[in-house]
Amino acid sequence: MGVGIIGLGKYVPEKVLTNHDLESVLDTTDEWIRSRTGIEARHIAADDENTSHMAIKATQIAIDNAGIKPEQIGLILVATVSPDQGFPSVACQLTEHFGIQCAAMDIAAACSGFIYGLVTAQQFLENNSYEYVLVVGVEKLSKVTDWNDRNTAILFGDGACAAVMTKVSEGRGILASELGADGSGGKHLYLNEENHIAMNGREVFKFAVRQMGESAVQVLEKAGLQKEDCDFLIPHQANIRIMEAARERLNLPEEKMSKTVHKYGNTSAASIGLSLAEELEQGKIKDDDIVVLVGFGGGLTWGAVTIRWGK
Ligand code: UT7
Repeated sequence: MGVGIIGLGKYVPEKVLTNHDLESVLDTTDEWIRSRTGIEARHIAADDENTSHMAIKATQIAIDNAGIKPEQIGLILVATVSPDQGFPSVACQLTEHFGIQCAAMDIAAACSGFIYGLVTAQQFLENNSYEYVLVVGVEKLSKVTDWNDRNTAILFGDGACAAVMTKVSEGRGILASELGADGSGGKHLYLNEENHIAMNGREVFKFAVRQMGESAVQVLEKAGLQKEDCDFLIPHQANIRIMEAARERLNLPEEKMSKTVHKYGNTSAASIGLSLAEELEQGKIKDDDIVVLVGFGGGLTWGAVTIRWGK
């Protein structure tokens, strides 16, 4: 048997903040942001809309799409670096909202968190601990963004994704995975004492370009596949230039890489699942396709999975 995703959900808040909106409050231009990052707009949660609220919305859609009831979930894993509070975890808040009791915890692996969640879920499903595991990636980065810092304020957005995972047919689902972390790079991207994102953009950029390409190639090789077997690449939506470097490393044509960064910005743990859900909605990923998800983030962390899509 394999282990795979049988239902996905995504949610972004209604309010859109464009580059032009930022031009009026920061020393920046729409042209600079577009050309250096590929970002045109991002969605920002309302003051009274917290991380858990967005997680609930994406989860409801995922469980409906999976055709299961909340009480069938045995474990909830929520990847986030912007929870409502230190504890209780967003995962625990989900159990309360859905009126269930099950194992629940948050994962702090920054933008790689959704991949960490998928791979952790896979272990519990393979060893028969649970029948269904819910993996959520959610961020309200707007509350940890320093809106006076043009180096970071232009990059981030809010949003959520959720995936229901269970056993699927042999040869389907997650075929290979790779997770990693190197704390020596932690100083390049972190939450500072004011609880704001602090970043050395150039260092993170260099790391990301190298790591995303390497991880994508390795996770295909681990699955016994070649670059040309990849049907679709879902990279962490951090910066179009970093994403393009990963695509070129796999020699993939443009239409085979997911791109949502222009409208959502960098939504950290939500970004990969959000993009995956969107590509599925648009029919771009088909049964039996080989899909590579790859991300990097604060920690520094990285992660990748090769999935053969379908049940
Ligand atoms: O999920 C992971 C999160 N982090 C990332 O993914 C960040 C990865 N890094 C990046 O995406 C890029 O490094 C940035 C988009 C952050 C910056 O792009 P860059 O091409 O590396 O620019 P830079 O930092 O080398 O800055 C070039 C110039 C600088 O001016 P000088 O020193 O050349 O005079 C900056 O001060 O651009 C200036 N600059 C800006 N100008 C207008 C920096 N931010 C802005 C801005 N608007 N928002």
